[in-house]
Amino acid sequence: MTFKEEIKRRRTFGIISHPDAGKTTLTEKLLLFGGAIHVAGAVKSNKIKKTATSDFMEIEKQRGISVATSVMGFDYNGYKVNILDTPGHQDFAEDTYRTLTAVDSVIIVVDAAKGVETQTRKLMEVCRMRHTPVIVFINKLDRPGKDPFELLDEVEEELKIKVRPLAWPMGSGDQFQGVYNIFEESLYLFTPNKQTLEDGIEIKDIHDPQLEEFVTPRAASTLREELELIDGVYPEFEHEAYLKGTLAPVFFGSALNNFGVRELLHAFLKLAPSPRPSITDKRVVEPEEEAFTGFVFKIHANMDPNHRNRLAFVKICSGHFQRNTNYMHVGLKKQMKFSSPTAFMAEKKSIIDEAFPGDIVGIPDSGNFKIGDTLTEGEILNFKGLPSFSPELFRYIENADPMKSKQLAKGIDQLMDEGVAQLFVSQFNGRKIIGTVGALQFEVIQYRLLHEYSASCRYEPINLYKACWIKSNDKAELEDFKKRKNQYMAKDKYGRDVFLADSSYMLQMAQESFKKLEFHFTSEF
Ligand code: G4P
Repeated sequence: MTFKEEIKRRRTFGIISHPDAGKTTLTEKLLLFGGAIHVAGAVKSNKIKKTATSDFMEIEKQRGISVATSVMGFDYNGYKVNILDTPGHQDFAEDTYRTLTAVDSVIIVVDAAKGVETQTRKLMEVCRMRHTPVIVFINKLDRPGKDPFELLDEVEEELKIKVRPLAWPMGSGDQFQGVYNIFEESLYLFTPNKQTLEDGIEIKDIHDPQLEEFVTPRAASTLREELELIDGVYPEFEHEAYLKGTLAPVFFGSALNNFGVRELLHAFLKLAPSPRPSITDKRVVEPEEEAFTGFVFKIHANMDPNHRNRLAFVKICSGHFQRNTNYMHVGLKKQMKFSSPTAFMAEKKSIIDEAFPGDIVGIPDSGNFKIGDTLTEGEILNFKGLPSFSPELFRYIENADPMKSKQLAKGIDQLMDEGVAQLFVSQFNGRKIIGTVGALQFEVIQYRLLHEYSASCRYEPINLYKACWIKSNDKAELEDFKKRKNQYMAKDKYGRDVFLADSSYMLQMAQESFKKLEFHFTSEF
């Protein structure tokens, strides 16, 4: 197979949803239909269990296990599929945001009864920012759900994206009869808990009386009417618009019942893009370029204190990655060779000799990497698109053991490199402030500092509403702002100016009074 063919056959994507919509079930069923696993339960058992939400140790342990399912690669019908797992737990939303920077497309799972929920909305914002192509899968049709037209309106409105159904359900709950696949022009009849794969019944013309042989006359006439309505309301499906991230094809099914999953997989493979160009601070990198480039989007720490090694996940953006070859760590300006890069095929992790654009390789790391680091064959460039998001919770972090201040500083530094949380240093009193997305991270940091770095910390409350990165072309105004808000100014890890607003009112006032100042809620602008 040529290098170009290797790239073309790759589909690297993530599945996102609000917790409980069915992401884990769908992932598992895709693996099952893709032939990557043979029994259900493998992914499910790695899921962060709901009962453990208050027990962070248990969650960290499970996160440790879930390293195996961080990337699930498999070959299917000539394609190489890479599913990137995203943590469902909302305290790890930042992990999910970062994983979304490494995917070429996304499948969004929506619960047919609940519709679009908060977490989905937030994750979609990240997709929109990056123009990521999305496919929507409306799940749990075996249960009574909202009217499909209503669901489509909701998706369009809430996720701010145009939609085009490529399948259409017949009823829901106990009235659920099946799905007509507009994309394949085939009818799929629903039988609960179907474990075997049945082919769809090809019905090219839905006015064909053959339809009545399979569904009740009433269901048939409703289907015809609704399909006509769809053709009237929604424009033809435009593949280009999907690839640009402005139009989402919609499918319906029930992941638990294995229904609609294979059709989704087939449509996905045909529609979804192969690896896309990546933006750097210097130029756009095309996947077909010969020279290898890649970036670290995730670092997984080993919870076992006897094996402090971490695993850096590298997304390959261009070229042919090879084992034991010298590559340049751009941030450190250092040549590095990797003797045991790993790839993830279904549940197994194994050492690989080569990898191609779209693939994810795990590189054992003893502390050289941080999130966002770029690897090249020597070219100096840095991949963009891995912003930090404005955290929502803040606390002062203090040293609780004066004998261990070095260990504490090192520990905090490394945990921040991993992206566990963000560190700000107040310019007013020099104190360190930790900002996180979820409350759980504070406990995680405290625990890990103690167990991995033998350092103790304690937290003190700080009343903050938001941290935002500020910038202005008007130097005088920027300086004036910093002077006046001296008490609320901080620097992030990279020395950038951050404004810590203690209320939304304060932020609003600042925005109104300093018109030439830009307030950014992500660190990349
Ligand atoms: P998540 O990863 O998005 O959080 O969701 P997950 O797949 O774990 O699914 C959440 C719950 O919804 C699970 O039930 C799962 O079995 C159920 N589910 C998923 N797809 C469907 C579907 O198509 N129809 C129906 N009726 N249910 C579905 P649970 O009781 O919370 O867990 P479990 O005990 O079944 O594992």
